[in-house]
Amino acid sequence: MNVLITGGSGFLGTNLSNFISKKGFNVKILDNFSRNMHKNINSEIELIDCDVRDKENLIKYSKNTDIFIHLAFVNGTRYFYENPELVLDVGIKGILNSIECINTHNIKKFILASSSEVYNEPNQVPTNENEIIKIPDVLNPRFSYSGGKIISEILTINSANQKEIEKIIFRPHNIFGKNMGEEHVIPELIKKIYIASKYFKENNCTIEIQGNGSQTRAFCYIDDAIDQIFFLIKNGKNNNVYNVGINNEISILDLAKKIASILKIDLKIEITENRIGSAKRRCPDIEKIINLGFNLENNFEQGLISTVNWYKEYYLNKNV
Ligand SMILES: NC(=O)c1ccc[n+]([C@@H]2O[C@H](COP(=O)([O-])OP(=O)(O)OC[C@H]3O[C@@H](n4cnc5c(N)ncnc54)[C@H](O)[C@@H]3O)[C@@H](O)[C@H]2O)c1
Repeated sequence: MNVLITGGSGFLGTNLSNFISKKGFNVKILDNFSRNMHKNINSEIELIDCDVRDKENLIKYSKNTDIFIHLAFVNGTRYFYENPELVLDVGIKGILNSIECINTHNIKKFILASSSEVYNEPNQVPTNENEIIKIPDVLNPRFSYSGGKIISEILTINSANQKEIEKIIFRPHNIFGKNMGEEHVIPELIKKIYIASKYFKENNCTIEIQGNGSQTRAFCYIDDAIDQIFFLIKNGKNNNVYNVGINNEISILDLAKKIASILKIDLKIEITENRIGSAKRRCPDIEKIINLGFNLENNFEQGLISTVNWYKEYYLNKNV
């Protein structure tokens, strides 16, 4: 089986590519390497510098692909606010060009990474895949990301219907692990503690967090997420959407305290204005994947310890 992964040198991509390759699949990555993480990719995986907006090359390189996994997207909340045009450009052209590849070649499966962000402020928490997906305010640039994901989902479902191809969409919920980038909740909290504790030298410090800390998320360790994604690649049903994550909801306040306790730092928290558009609660209902036969594992606690320790070294070595 030949597997092509766009955005395969990012956080999910490197972990997924290495995992799939170890299972015996031939893996090819197409990425513009804007995240610069390809050093961690196994040597037997083919790495090609290709922007998903470059239709001609995407079609050329996706020849002889059996499974096409589309992960390439511009991630990180900062970019949604600061460069919504780029987020949408990569999002929309990326999915349209990927669909051109499906239409051109004899691809058997198309897997799309969407996001929990499509639920925005869900009516039900834990949230299942039938929840209404929405853009509450077109004037808020934050929704460039979820807008791109919603369009990608609709295009996936409504394309290439006359072809024998299975299309599976997954919506990841706050996946974390070492080397996930800096633009996410866990690395950002660690960095704040790093700076406030004078590079982890002082054993107490005060940090600011957005909102009153009661906002919740459900964090899923990367190894558990990759197990779920690989299971869906094999067993997901055609034209179906699946949440990927773990349903252990935690407040940002409690998460910050857990991180501080791993770092052995006594933490005080000050509250600041929340950014408009950030959901108050988010937690996936994962019954759908479990009903498909998936055996759930939850390595949150152990994963958090190894991630915090990895970022501790990372920030100390980076000397920011
Ligand atoms: N990590 C999570 O918790 C999470 C949550 C929800 C959704 N997702 C989705 O899962 C997918 C993978 O996420 P991730 O955390 O690995 O993100 P990531 O930012 O680490 O990886 C994205 C990859 O896409 C590549 N890329 C960006 N623009 C490109 C372009 N124009 N052409 C080719 N490649 C390009 C980047 O270089 C990077 O390697 C993304 O679609 C993301 O939106 C992830």
